[in-house]
Amino acid sequence: MEFTAEIKKATEPIYKKISKAIPEIEWSVHAPYIYEINKLKKKKNAVILAHNYQTPEIYHGISDFSADSLALAIEAANTKADIIVMCGVHFMAETAKLMSPDKKVLLPDMRAGCSLSASITGEDVRNLKKKYPNVPVVSYVNTSADVKAETDVCCTSANAVKIVNSLGANKVIFLPDDYLAKYVASQTDVEIISWKGTCEVHEKFTDTEINEIRENNPNIKVIAHPECPPDVIKASDFAGSTSGMIKYVKDNQPKKVMMVTECSMSDNIQIDNPNVEFIRPCNLCPHMKRITLPKILDCLKKETNEIIMSEEIIKRARKSVERMAEVGR
Ligand code: 13P
Ligand code: SF4
Repeated sequence: MEFTAEIKKATEPIYKKISKAIPEIEWSVHAPYIYEINKLKKKKNAVILAHNYQTPEIYHGISDFSADSLALAIEAANTKADIIVMCGVHFMAETAKLMSPDKKVLLPDMRAGCSLSASITGEDVRNLKKKYPNVPVVSYVNTSADVKAETDVCCTSANAVKIVNSLGANKVIFLPDDYLAKYVASQTDVEIISWKGTCEVHEKFTDTEINEIRENNPNIKVIAHPECPPDVIKASDFAGSTSGMIKYVKDNQPKKVMMVTECSMSDNIQIDNPNVEFIRPCNLCPHMKRITLPKILDCLKKETNEIIMSEEIIKRARKSVERMAEVGR
């Protein structure tokens, strides 16, 4: 696509904002897509929802709403748009469809999965329920609709402890993230039965890496996502969902910070926090990175890659997400 003078002028305000994250040469490739996508989404009354791990040209260039998975689910329920384009992974698009079943939900690349979501099936949950009868099931939102359909209430990293406590039970099955389960167990008296799922991005971080960075950067603040191993959380100053981490940086304005999470977060947040120095440990989520501007334009143009689910699954899975939304953050 050609980077014409008209496109250059029309996209200049966006580039001004993100020029620190994107070199000029790269901008000439992104800008024509950003221009076309922004035009097309207005014409089609489409909304673009983007997870915090999307790259800066998506996060700052075309997204109408960028957030963590809880806020994306709530926004999907409230939007007045006819089409939702989910710039995130498959379970996020499915969750949007559950919350807005009458809307067309598109995912620019259907292969954008998640190691946590892939770690468990609906059948696995049915077997667990047989093994632990009458024990409520809490599932992380990073699960398929089939798993959500077997779940009493969903949670995200932003509200996991609150959801578990809200059940008033002395035992809870908590799926599928083993590390998040350990984190929740450390924050509550409820007995937690966990599953062996992990996030392939966050499990790579180690406390040794954090301690080395602390030695070389005195006074650095280290903030981690709860999907990290427990040792990493212990070695950090704060743990929270992706939006919780962003809020921490915004509110505290540390001189130096290390975000122990997916790479693009630091790139995106640096733009709004120019006085904060980000030390970047770089672990990429290969699934999130499948979403690109050309794929977004193509799927919006042709309205392909639509999320389709049976009415029965929608009805059952939706209940667990609605219960989560009622409890809130
Ligand atoms: P958040 O809900 O914190 O945005 O996390 C989603 C996710 O996939 C993190 O790896
Ligand atoms: Fe899944 Fe981890 Fe990627 Fe998040 S970062 S989408 S949990 S694989």
